Amino acid sequence: MKIAVVAYSFEGNTWKIASAIAESIHADLIRLIPQKEMTSTGFSKYIWGGRQVVFGMKPKIEPLSHDPNQYDLIFLGSPIWAGTFAPPVKTFLETGLIQEKAIAYFYTHEGGFKNAVARAQKSIEPDNYLIGSLDLLNVMKNEEQCIQQAVAWAKEILKQHSNV
Ligand SMILES: Cc1cc2nc3c(=O)[nH]c(=O)nc-3n(C[C@H](O)[C@H](O)[C@H](O)COP(=O)(O)O)c2cc1C
Repeated sequence: MKIAVVAYSFEGNTWKIASAIAESIHADLIRLIPQKEMTSTGFSKYIWGGRQVVFGMKPKIEPLSHDPNQYDLIFLGSPIWAGTFAPPVKTFLETGLIQEKAIAYFYTHEGGFKNAVARAQKSIEPDNYLIGSLDLLNVMKNEEQCIQQAVAWAKEILKQHSNV
């Protein structure tokens, strides 16, 4: 079974988790990089990013380092923006880049993630299917604990879906 960990990360938290999962299960790691990334780390990032979510934007992303269609299982990571996954993940899910893939979704947030899984599921299906999810609260403050939790979750997903 070929496995990839695909993630977008603006401030590095989701990427730390993605890297730890990939290393622990020997998966390829693919970073979603928008062609135009915001530069602000101050309050205006919420306006810039929130606006993208509200308008359902699918920002162009750089060519991927690996073809995602060669994998059977994809661990997909995103920070939560305005209650849902970040726009580059929308691009990944909704522009025909992957078909019929099993997706295990993990997301990092600071407490405002209501309905995050249901909202992701709407974008994952019908082209692909969701096999599990994990929410990770305040990675910056609980880095080691979140990494341990994510690695254990990923191993459990693999155990349950080794026939994917
Ligand atoms: C534009 C923007 C919107 C955000 N919206 C939310 C939100 O709705 N709920 C929440 O809990 N955290 C929100 N956050 C915080 C991030 O989800 C959180 O810090 C996440 O771990 C950042 O991941 P990253 O470092 O990989 O970018 C937002 C952050 C940004 C930049």
